[in-house]
This record gives sequence, C-alpha cells and structure tokens, in this order.
Amino acid sequence: MELKWDQSLATGNKVIDKQHQELFSRMEKLVVAAKRGEEKDVVSDAIAFLENYVIEHFKDEENIQIANSYPEFDSHKHQHQEFLYDIMKLKNEFETEGSSVTILVKSIASIGNWISGHVKQSDKALAGYLRVRAKKGTLRETVGLK
Ligand SMILES: [Fe+2]
Ligand SMILES: [Fe+2]
Repeated sequence: MELKWDQSLATGNKVIDKQHQELFSRMEKLVVAAKRGEEKDVVSDAIAFLENYVIEHFKDEENIQIANSYPEFDSHKHQHQEFLYDIMKLKNEFETEGSSVTILVKSIASIGNWISGHVKQSDKALAGYLRVRAKKGTLRETVGLK
C-alpha cells in the first residue's frame, strides 16, 4: 500500500494536515529502514519516533476537541486509544520476537490503512466542525493546533 499522504486525506485544517503528512513520512521512513535491513536499533528508534509523534498528534487533536466542546470527543478519543494500543503491540512484538521485516512491513501497512480510514472519516469530520466554529467566531484555539 501507499504510505504517502495525498489530497484524499486533506481535512482542510492546515495544522492537522501538516501533522498527518509528517506521520505518513515517518511511517514511510520506518518501512524503508526495515526493508533496507537496518540495525535493529535503527528500526526500534524509528518505531519509537513514530509512536511519540502519534501520541503528540493525538493529544493536539484531543485538546482542540475539548476546548471546542466537540460532541464526538469520546468516540474519537476511543479510536485514538485503540490505535495507540496497536502501535505498542507492534513495538513489543518487534522487540521481543525479533526483527522480521515481513511482519513489520505488514504491520505498518495495516497502521497506514487505519490512519487513512480514521483521517478520512473522523479527522475530516473534526476539521469540518472546527471550520463551522471558526466561521461563527467561536473557535477556541489550542497550543498544538492553531
Ligand atoms: Fe484523530
Ligand atoms: Fe489525526
């Protein structure tokens, strides 16, 4: 699957889109590192990097939802949590069962699929909601997502 960000993933929110682009680029880097047969440490670092970025991104998205009383907050946050759980599972599998490139690449592909689906549905819905608030002049900006 393509791990590249494209216009079909655009939410219209500049900061969210920028973070998603970075997310896809980190996933791609991880796949490249794994396929190249980089040292286990390099791949582990790439996984940790991705995990941290995802955590930050989710936090930013959740904070702006709280600040703007987003009605879908609970289900959105729940989706984020399930996804984080999958990333941690991937990290643990990689660290305990060794560096099978095939498994890693497969896992990243499913992570990519998940993110694409989530962005197209839930993040686009969030961006739409924020746009309406902005038009009404009631958008409350937060530190991460301006
Ligand atoms: Fe999200
Ligand atoms: Fe997102």
